[in-house]
Parts: sequence; structure tokens; C-alpha cells
Amino acid sequence: MKGIILAGGKGTRLHPLTISVSKQLLPVYDKPMIYYPLSMLMLAGIQEVLVISTPESLPLFKDLLGSGANWGMQFEYAEQAEPRGLADAFLVGEKFIGNDSVCLILGDNIFYGRGLAKVLQSAAALTHGAIIFAYPVINPSRYGVVQFDQNGRATSIEEKPAKPRSKFAVPGVYFYDSQVTRVARNLKPSPRGELEITDLNMVYLEKGELNVEVLGRGVAWLDAGTHESLLQAANFIQTVEERQGLMISCPEEIAFRMGFIDQNQLANLVDQLSENTYKVYLKRFLEDLQ
Ligand code: G1P
Repeated sequence: MKGIILAGGKGTRLHPLTISVSKQLLPVYDKPMIYYPLSMLMLAGIQEVLVISTPESLPLFKDLLGSGANWGMQFEYAEQAEPRGLADAFLVGEKFIGNDSVCLILGDNIFYGRGLAKVLQSAAALTHGAIIFAYPVINPSRYGVVQFDQNGRATSIEEKPAKPRSKFAVPGVYFYDSQVTRVARNLKPSPRGELEITDLNMVYLEKGELNVEVLGRGVAWLDAGTHESLLQAANFIQTVEERQGLMISCPEEIAFRMGFIDQNQLANLVDQLSENTYKVYLKRFLEDLQ
């Protein structure tokens, strides 16, 4: 399976923060925002990742992430000149996806919780159909909203409904089989002129090929798209990291834990880091391995 991180958009809800800096490069406590969704893909076992962003911001992402080789990853980059919707990612990434299955993750979605890696790894084993998630929130109207029947089967998904039929929002991480590019190509733009991920999911739902898994309360899904939620996300990460002494979404650590790099490669990486608390953390992690 391949991975796509969509890190485009104008980030207008975060202006003036994002007038000259891409939202997904903003700090969330001790890391750039994109590290969090990237870590999710890595935990899913995905090593080939396409980063999609605007022509202005793409060079900044390349500067930050490079080829990925240091982390045992392979990064590619593609431009999305205009925000044409989330499902457009599959058209921009058509060549990259080829005949593979693919996981799309939004560059501003942050997840943390017990058992998440297992959930991701089993979703990444998908060969047919699609897997998306549902997560209870207090403000579902801001999101894609999924409705279930009494048997827990998804019956509909609506994008930002004024009157949501359930409290279950669809988080920005989606797994699809290799049909996804064809499905995306047949979508019609919505009234706001975008190829909606919700419409794409509806195609899979109507074919009976959409699996919607509920993420329980043991998982935190944070949204970093508004001033308040960006600060809350940073505070959450700081609180958990300081309490446990464990870092959330540290790609170097995950690369090692997933076996993408070995201990020597990690030690070399750590040597190259500047002297700061991020390095101190990884040094301690290495020492604890001895
Ligand atoms: C997008 C999707 C929405 C999804 C959300 C998750 O909305 O359109 O279905 O629930 O991401 O973050 P956006 O937040 O980009 O408006």
C-alpha cells in the first residue's frame, strides 16, 4: 500500500498564521504538523509516500522531509495548483498510485491512542473496497458525518450537514483499493466546485464495499484547523509527552520501531541532530535499547 498526505489548501481559517506559511508546517508543540499524519502512515507500515501541496509550499516540504531515505522512507512530491477537493488527490497522484491500494491522510489530522497502530496495519492490508473511520464528536456539522443502522452498518455519509443525523464524524484518514483513481475520475464537482471525499466514499458505500470502523474513546482525534484547536492540540501533545517521557509521532523513533532503519542508522541520524530536547529524547531512547 502507498500513502498520500494532502497538505494543500489556503488555510484561511488560520489566517494570519498561514498567509505565508503552509498550515501543515506550523508547529504542534515540538514538531511540524505534518509529522503527525506522516507518523500514522509509517505506523501503518507504509514506506512510499506522496506529499501533495501548493506550488509555493511544496519546496518547503521537500526541504523538511527530503527523499525520506534517512527514515527508510521514499517520499515523492506533487503540486496541486488549486484546491480542487480531497478526492482530487487521487488524480494528482494517479501515476504514483499505479495499481496499488492507497491510504490518504489529511496533513492537519492528528491521532493518538492505544491500539492505533494495529488498526492502521490491518486497514493497510486491504485489497478490495475501502475502509474509513467514524469518531464521535460534539460538533459533527464541521465534518463528513456517517449514519449507521441498528446493525452498525453505515447507511449514509453527508458532508458538513446542517442537521447531522449522528454524532459520528469521518476523520481524515481513508484506505482504498486500486479502483480509487477510476472512481475519483468519475466524480462530479460539488456545488462548491470540489471533488468531495464524501462523494467518493458514497460510491464505495453504494457498491457495498465501504467498511466504516468506529474509533473508540481510547483514541484522540485532534483537528488543528482553527486557532483554538491548534493550541489545544499542542497542549495535548505537551501534556502527554511530559507526563510519560515518550514522544508522540517522532518519525525517527517510529522508523526504527517499524524496522525501516536499524539501530546504527538511528544512531547516525541522532548524531546529526542539533543539540536540543528532541535530540536528548532520541539519545535516551537509544541508550534504553542497550
Ligand atoms: C474534510 C472532509 C470531511 C472530513 C474532514 C476531516 O473537511 O471534507 O469529510 O470529516 O476533512 O478532517 P475539511 O476539514 O477539510 O473541511
